[in-house]
Amino acid sequence: MNFKKILGLSAFAAVMLGSCAQSGNEVKPESEDNGKNVVIETIMSRRSVRDYEQRAIPRDTMQLIAECGINAPNGMNKQDWEIKIVDDPGFIKGVTELYVKENPKAAEDPKFKNMFRNAPTVAFIAAPEGSYSGINCGLLGENMILAAWSMGIGSCCLGGPVRFLNSEVAADYLAKLNISEGYTVLYAIGFGYPAESPEAKPRDNSKIQFVD
Ligand SMILES: Cc1cc2nc3c(=O)[nH]c(=O)nc-3n(C[C@H](O)[C@H](O)[C@H](O)COP(=O)(O)O)c2cc1C
Repeated sequence: MNFKKILGLSAFAAVMLGSCAQSGNEVKPESEDNGKNVVIETIMSRRSVRDYEQRAIPRDTMQLIAECGINAPNGMNKQDWEIKIVDDPGFIKGVTELYVKENPKAAEDPKFKNMFRNAPTVAFIAAPEGSYSGINCGLLGENMILAAWSMGIGSCCLGGPVRFLNSEVAADYLAKLNISEGYTVLYAIGFGYPAESPEAKPRDNSKIQFVD
């Protein structure tokens, strides 16, 4: 995988990402670095990471990543989403202990550190019921994932752990997230500095068809 290359590009990418945090029309069209398109390189080299160094992502970096998230396109600019970021090891350890009680097999993996695929920082994405809110939250998450990857930060989208978080057993931890009335946690994204370099999973190009 091109992870080292991505790290080398991160300074340039950081300049690009600066525009995520800005308002107004300051977006620069250039995305070329040494003849390579940095955005396409970032998209094509990203992989889900499930083994991390056990140090949380600094909060100012997570703030930037989250601001890239909320700059995603969203239906009628309703911004009907919430991002709750957890980097407290006590929260992660506590809910993981409950999870392992219910799913003892999960902890049999020698690399198992926590239920969020071992990520030290977890962003929970919540939305209300509504026709576009799921789409909006998906676009938000991908912005966060790609922004992170461009800065050498790995991630993994997580559906399974959120099913557990939304169950009765984990109610105390869900309450700690302080999700707004009418909102539900749809999924989570684990973030961290990668301790593995996964191979690309195959993609089926036949899913792309031009209609004449
Ligand atoms: C909605 C959604 C839910 C996912 N849930 C999990 C999960 O619970 N556990 C996990 O390890 N990976 C999860 N993934 C990651 C996928 O397994 C991964 O994106 C897919 O296998 C493609 O691999 P890649 O991301 O490395 O390209 C999820 C991804 C998405 C988009």
